[in-house]
Amino acid sequence: MNLDKVFENNQDWIKTKLELDSQYFEKLSKGQSPEILYIGCSDSRATAEELMGAEPGEVFVHRNIANMVISIDLNVMSVLNYAVNQLKVKHVVVCGHYFCGGVKAAMTAQDLGILNPWLRNIRDVYRIHRDELNKLPDGDERYNRLVELNVQEQCVNLIKTAAVQTAYKERGLQVHGWVFDIQSGKLIDLKLDFPEILHNIQEIYDLG
Ligand code: CO
Repeated sequence: MNLDKVFENNQDWIKTKLELDSQYFEKLSKGQSPEILYIGCSDSRATAEELMGAEPGEVFVHRNIANMVISIDLNVMSVLNYAVNQLKVKHVVVCGHYFCGGVKAAMTAQDLGILNPWLRNIRDVYRIHRDELNKLPDGDERYNRLVELNVQEQCVNLIKTAAVQTAYKERGLQVHGWVFDIQSGKLIDLKLDFPEILHNIQEIYDLG
């Protein structure tokens, strides 16, 4: 993509927005009150706002390789705590996508340097669900099932945090696991049973 084109696009975008509402940017500058925190993959094909049809101000977004929620990652934990405790979002979404390069890399026997510790978290998801995954044919089916299970485990990681546990108890915050199907453009709700997951892991991860 030509960078000059980026700035041209930006001018066109400003024009379009102002045509619909001459106060558009003035209103945007007043603040944000998004109801959704979206944690997705950095993959250039799995855009956050565009696939949801969301406008600026509607979704608080964090993206990293393979939409991971890692307890010692200060970045994702800062985003989560700010979104839940300050912005008071109603929903936290982990959205993975089929044909995720990060997940693929974690299924491959290769040394990727600094990426190793990051991807090891996905290898851990594989280990937890090894029995189910190894029953599937070695190919796209297994690969994309790991994408789904990774989303599920990142939702579990969210539920392990004090921020989510407290907001759930106090105001019914919800956690959702979604997958974006790149082949069809479809957004799929994995329909994870949040209260059930919480109940199952509570005796181990309850922070009181
Ligand atoms: Co990805």
